[in-house]
Amino acid sequence: MAPQAEAEAQAQDSQDTAQIRVGDRTLDLPVIQGTEGEMAVDIGALRKETGYITMDPGFGNTGACRSAITFIDGEKGILRYRGYRIEDLAEQSTFLETAWLLIHGELPTKTELDDFVEDVTKHTMLNESFRKFMDALPRDAHPMPMCAATVGALTTFYQQPESEESIRQSIIRLIAKMPTIAAYAYKHSLGQPFIYPRNDFDYSSNLIHMMFATPCAPYEVDPVVAKAMDALFILHADHEQNCSTSTVRLVGSSMANLYASISAGISALWGSLHGGANQKVVEMFEAIERGGGDPEAYIARAKDPDDPTRLMGFGHRVYKNYDPRAKYLKEACRQVLDRLDVSDKLLEIAQGLEEITLRDPYFVDRKLYPNVDFYSGVIYRALGIPVDAFTVMFAIGRLPGWIAQWLEMRHDPDFRIGRPRQVYTGANERDYVGMDAR
Ligand code: CMC
Repeated sequence: MAPQAEAEAQAQDSQDTAQIRVGDRTLDLPVIQGTEGEMAVDIGALRKETGYITMDPGFGNTGACRSAITFIDGEKGILRYRGYRIEDLAEQSTFLETAWLLIHGELPTKTELDDFVEDVTKHTMLNESFRKFMDALPRDAHPMPMCAATVGALTTFYQQPESEESIRQSIIRLIAKMPTIAAYAYKHSLGQPFIYPRNDFDYSSNLIHMMFATPCAPYEVDPVVAKAMDALFILHADHEQNCSTSTVRLVGSSMANLYASISAGISALWGSLHGGANQKVVEMFEAIERGGGDPEAYIARAKDPDDPTRLMGFGHRVYKNYDPRAKYLKEACRQVLDRLDVSDKLLEIAQGLEEITLRDPYFVDRKLYPNVDFYSGVIYRALGIPVDAFTVMFAIGRLPGWIAQWLEMRHDPDFRIGRPRQVYTGANERDYVGMDAR
């Protein structure tokens, strides 16, 4: 059963209706109930019946789709993929198994997983032309636009007309090639030779090897690092209708192909209010460290309404409680640093900052807690990932979620091109004025 059909079958159609009064018209609107009791008013008839539209900048109250992939309860700090707790998946699953779960809706059988892993492993190489393609970009290029450009360019190599089979192949290629692209982007920034993927490594070990091995010396992947990386990917794998996922859906709704849609998602993720926050968090910790390690001055700036500074890695549109990913990562951070025998002053700064904010009425009243990006950067640093590449790691992790959401959108019986409306506030009709008269 296609994921959307499954969601339809599970969701109860509520008998309730909502009423809206616009001028002298009262409209009965259907109410939709999700499988976890979430309620929505279906305003589909509003414009046709009344001529009015709704206004919701930032879409804080707008549901754009029904989805059976990820459930978040922001008040309780719950996150589940296809019903499975992310904490359990991070502990017990692998990234590729979780990717299968997100994309197909169920955990794979052993045969399904073996076949999937083999398929992914055999498609990790990039066409050699990409070496020239990436080489043409400046040495100091940020790896996120490099990845977005390369993923977009994959479509020029795989031009088959869209079919179920070509989409299946694109999914395998994207998941397989993203680590290779990420590692190539990093090697390019160092001016080092690219390291080819290895089929005898698991997914995360292969990425680490491609990033850190060189042709001149043997390199051993630390299994602790590989396991931590895999768990990080799982925690990032989906997060329902966030900015980049909504971008992937919107671009895909025009019938743009998967590569083009994912490339747009990578660009959306790069922004500092979204995935790019993980880089900004560590830069913020470093700035605090350079200033002597006391975070109070930074916190004061973040609280000042006349200062645009924000506490990076804090706050979330959906979570009004501790982000469960941050809760998991805080503990993982301590464990990874211990196991790698690394001490990092930045972890102390992070913990100090968190303690202050949890007592500060500004953050308490606004329900601002650490989000996924608050501790992930400290782990990435301990694993040896350069700061510039943090958001690329997020993108590798988020890829299966983007793919699952794109597929669900394309199978949705309510599928339509995404096209928000607006309230026009510009000039009324006026006559053109020639240059001489201006
Ligand atoms: N530091 C200081 N004040 C904040 C912060 C922050 N990080 N986040 C929100 N606020 C304040 C904001 O100024 C506003 O105050 P007031 O009511 O006095 O005007 C109030 O809290 C509500 O904020 P908002 O801007 O309406 O919240 P939002 O839902 O539009 O924004 C957010 C969510 C994540 C963009 C925002 O919290 C933020 O900018 N955080 C820092 C960037 C960050 O860490 N982003 C990563 C998000 S998690 C990873 C991902 O999924 O992308």
